[in-house]
Amino acid sequence: MNDPIPTPDIEDFDSDPLSQRNEDIFARRELLRVGHVPESGRIVGRDQEISAVEDLLRPAAFGEPPKNAIVYGKTGTGKSLVSKHVTGRARAIATRNNAKFGAAYVDCDQCDTQTRVARSLAQQVQQQSSKNISVPDIGIGASEYFKYLWSMLEELDVFIAIVDEIDKLGDDEVLFKLSRAEESGKTSCYVGVLAISNKIEYYERLNERVKSSLQEAELVFHPYDANQLISILENRRDAFKPNVLQSGVIPRVAALAAREHGDARKAIEILYSAGELAAKNGDAQVTEEHVDAAQDYADVSRFQELIRGSTPHSKYALFALAYLTKIRIGDAFSTGEIYRVYEQVCDSEGADALSRQRVLELLKEWAFSDITENKYTGGGKGQGSYREHTLLREADMVIETVFEQASTKRDILAELQE
Ligand SMILES: Nc1ncnc2c1ncn2[C@@H]1O[C@H](COP(=O)(O)OP(=O)(O)O)[C@@H](O)[C@H]1O
Ligand SMILES: [Mg+2]
Repeated sequence: MNDPIPTPDIEDFDSDPLSQRNEDIFARRELLRVGHVPESGRIVGRDQEISAVEDLLRPAAFGEPPKNAIVYGKTGTGKSLVSKHVTGRARAIATRNNAKFGAAYVDCDQCDTQTRVARSLAQQVQQQSSKNISVPDIGIGASEYFKYLWSMLEELDVFIAIVDEIDKLGDDEVLFKLSRAEESGKTSCYVGVLAISNKIEYYERLNERVKSSLQEAELVFHPYDANQLISILENRRDAFKPNVLQSGVIPRVAALAAREHGDARKAIEILYSAGELAAKNGDAQVTEEHVDAAQDYADVSRFQELIRGSTPHSKYALFALAYLTKIRIGDAFSTGEIYRVYEQVCDSEGADALSRQRVLELLKEWAFSDITENKYTGGGKGQGSYREHTLLREADMVIETVFEQASTKRDILAELQE
């Protein structure tokens, strides 16, 4: 057979760099993985939120209709964790109560269309089903997947769908269908939806009809303070071998993460990368210096990924704002000012400029990712109000990242200066 990946005869195993383990400082790496769901003993500072979700799901644990809810909060405030944790317990208790309970979790960051969400739900329910149904992987659309779902739900008393990161979802149709499933006679199973969003602003974008059916309850998860972050990290200290973390490390990580917005994910990520950095350097201990280096790296690379992954005109609009921020005193610019620079950038790139309204929308998208901020300001008397945009990141870094080729960047900057 023609094996595309040959296994070579290695003469001296010990001197092969792949045999050098460098993770000696870690004891249980998995505790620091983002998807890791800690046991209840390791969940800190979310008692109120946990009991609010318990209130929603308690009926479900008895095979009775649960409530729908929208869960809001910034990233890393424990929304996904708490939702999964309570749903899992509800399932265990329902089983003990002889209620037939099904549950599924979909992350719209990965399943960003109706079809993908519906497929994922149907396939998860199928795995919990006793019937021998096979849900196809391809070739059918959202409404067919829903048909599979509804028919499988007939076996169940209750079904909880956790739909995470709904702000990444193209349209609200799925949420609407799920939240109205039983009412619209699609299934006799009681369906409860926990819709999670990282963006409070997302609420404005939700369709009225979806709002009214999801809004039976609304939960807001607040950011963690530095002490809570310390506890969360302390509870995972055993990811490392004893004495590996220098005493200042956890407080330092917590302080950095609290400074942003009290993001537990970020805290865990920084701790993990600080550990990896130490391991890579062959250091026996993780120090505060490792923490700072890991933080700088994470911050820049995440932000650069966002820019690199965006469309050309979205980049040009952001570039225009960065350019103004760099050359002018002041940090807030009107859409009109930005648009004029944007047009010049398009010109020198040989691209047709989009309309001003469209550019405004692109700028709002950047605000949605927390790269920029925009607000209405009242102009002077008789001037009316207008929208102003502010860059929240370093202008130089934006300029570097948008035009990674030095020559292109030079050309554009030269043309703008004329
Ligand atoms: N209260 C907590 N106790 C322990 N770990 C937590 C807590 N809150 C969040 N985490 C951890 O932080 C990370 C991010 O939490 P997550 O629930 O995904 O946040 P969100 O969904 O709000 O963005 C996960 O690895 C999670 O296990
Ligand atoms: Mg989440």
